[in-house]
Amino acid sequence: MLEDLNPALFERLSKIDRSKEFFEFLEKPLRKSVRINTLKADLDYVVNRLSGILEEKVPWCGEGYYINTENFSAIPEHQLGVIFSQSSVSMIPPVIMELKPGMLVLDLCASPGAKTTQIAQYMNNEGCVVANDVKIERINMLVSNIQKCGVLIAKITMMDGRRFARFENRFDAVLVDAPCSNLGMIRRSFSHAKSWNIKMSLDLSKLQKELLMTGYRCLKPGGVLVYSTCTFEPLENEEVVDFLLRNSEAEIEKIDLPIKAIEGFTEFEGKSYLGEVRRCLRIHPQMNDTEGFFVAKLRK
Ligand SMILES: C[S@@+](CC[C@H](N)C(=O)[O-])C[C@H]1O[C@@H](n2cnc3c(N)ncnc32)[C@H](O)[C@@H]1O
Repeated sequence: MLEDLNPALFERLSKIDRSKEFFEFLEKPLRKSVRINTLKADLDYVVNRLSGILEEKVPWCGEGYYINTENFSAIPEHQLGVIFSQSSVSMIPPVIMELKPGMLVLDLCASPGAKTTQIAQYMNNEGCVVANDVKIERINMLVSNIQKCGVLIAKITMMDGRRFARFENRFDAVLVDAPCSNLGMIRRSFSHAKSWNIKMSLDLSKLQKELLMTGYRCLKPGGVLVYSTCTFEPLENEEVVDFLLRNSEAEIEKIDLPIKAIEGFTEFEGKSYLGEVRRCLRIHPQMNDTEGFFVAKLRK
């Protein structure tokens, strides 16, 4: 499969992580994981009921489990929204958002709703989560997942996230889980590798900077803003966080989770980023046998 990587992408990835393990893990099948939805059932009850298919716990998410079944969609608990299929690394953002019942939360790029439903779970269905996405076909998936998971506190909006800029200092916490080149998801689908080119990452970087600046503007002083992507590309990761830090009073915080990760890059391809971007987490597939992920925790 890797021999099918286009040479430009292979060269780019080799600059990001030249280890043999990195490329080996890109070819390995991905372990499936689920999040138990405590809005629908008690955690211990579900763990007992599904003990035959749940494997080890996801160390950084109390409700996350790796699962050993191929025929996941046939499980009644899945159809009923009691368990939600979610990549283990994608469970990180809501875990670090310091969520509490009663908050007003903005999920700026929300569909298909894995994190929206997790956010509502941590808010115990009290308060409000504004779940926004720009594409109608994605909104349909969002609505269906919100309903399936028993989320009662979501307000769904459909607009370009940049248009939220007028809601200044309004939200207690904000998530910008940005559209990205999805290179971290190659293990799930090789199509992400096929479609990549550098222009794509340059264009996304511009959009991501605007979305992150908007998310920051919407946040109340003292609140937490989380930025995440499922790509390895520094233009879409460190460069975007560096842009916010240089153009706002945002502070970046250390993320303390039981996960193996490396620090954000402060140099890449002749560009220098602020030293604080080291506090971002870069999670490459070989580190925890997961997809690739990038996450930053910022405070206003
Ligand atoms: C990485 S996905 C979000 C995944 C989602 N947070 C989850 O956990 O299920 C990024 C989303 O951003 C949306 N998007 C793209 N451009 C956008 C924009 N300008 N404003 C808001 N959302 C946008 C895409 O439609 C896509 O659904």
